[in-house]
Amino acid sequence: MKKVKVNELKPNMILAETILGKGGRILLSTGIKLNEALINKIKETGKKSIYIEEDKHEIKMEGIAESNGEKIHFGSQVDIEEHLNIELMQKVEDDFEEVANTVKNGILNLNLSEEEIVKNTGDVTEFIKNNFNSNYAYIFRSIMTIRDVDEYLYRHSVNVAVLSFLLAKWLGYNDEKLNKILYAGLLHDIGKLKVDQNVLNKPGKLTAEEFEIVKKHALYTYKILEDFRSLDKEILYGATFHHEKLDGSGYPFGLKDNKIPEFARIIAIADIFDAMTSNRVYHNKKSPFLVLEMFSTNSFGKLDPRIVYIFLQRFVEYYIGSEVILNNGKKAKIVRINFTEITKPLLLDENGDFIDMSKERDVKIDDFYVKELENFDK
Ligand SMILES: [Fe+2]
Ligand SMILES: [Fe+2]
Repeated sequence: MKKVKVNELKPNMILAETILGKGGRILLSTGIKLNEALINKIKETGKKSIYIEEDKHEIKMEGIAESNGEKIHFGSQVDIEEHLNIELMQKVEDDFEEVANTVKNGILNLNLSEEEIVKNTGDVTEFIKNNFNSNYAYIFRSIMTIRDVDEYLYRHSVNVAVLSFLLAKWLGYNDEKLNKILYAGLLHDIGKLKVDQNVLNKPGKLTAEEFEIVKKHALYTYKILEDFRSLDKEILYGATFHHEKLDGSGYPFGLKDNKIPEFARIIAIADIFDAMTSNRVYHNKKSPFLVLEMFSTNSFGKLDPRIVYIFLQRFVEYYIGSEVILNNGKKAKIVRINFTEITKPLLLDENGDFIDMSKERDVKIDDFYVKELENFDK
């Protein structure tokens, strides 16, 4: 790693630090190979010097390999410049920010009338359907990016609505039901506006009493939305039951299995995933695979396995072809997803050897290498 003046940056240098853009959002991640456009983005931040890697070369791996007697074609390598669409990534970020602002000013605000809240929720619903209907990998990436903690509730509500919308779409929901789940996602935590904000935003672990206070938000959501005569009951229940668990261990009512409506089961998955990947300011960047693994193990018996599976499958699809760094220090490429154990894909390492993570269970993916964004336009 060495420090280089920004005006001496050259294409093909590898970034060795994360560059933050406006509002503390990640503009460029460690490991990205620079090109002219990216260098200009760095110049726009006003930074004078940055760290780059000294001796990292890309792994060139393409051709045909054999695993268990089966031939597998893998990656015709295309340079990241052709895949990385920094403008598109920025657009997705900007769209998220725009929606979060509307949610803050026009939806999650109890000084507004029911008519205003319902109308604005409808507008945001249309916006999400039009703008978050493709480029899923950019959306996932944006959802997994560091947040400004003060604005957590607004951005969280948008993330949950967008993830719920995508899940519902992949489950084959029609337009009317997509609208309803978007309403429920956007409004699911409206009850938090009635919870003591000091408890809600307390840094660190909550005491048992404090947790009981926070849990009340689900009932408050019910009480607020129940009065909204124009809202469909499916929206009301989808929002209210988002903390119920299949094994009956959830709240506010401890509902079990199919007593929990599918809307609420979808929102629960979106909610937990977003909560797990947020507040990461104090943590090192986690591999999405680690997050997915934690997500799938922790959710066992509590979340709808069919919906969790669809979520994991769709998520992981966007990472085929990505180059990763393993916990043994080796570089490898994800060549195939293992559908029985979605977080343990088949890899090809830099020596041309296959590593089946479902068999070699000590191998873990530590992080993504240079080409994290390669598959973004799939
Ligand atoms: Fe909640
Ligand atoms: Fe939530």
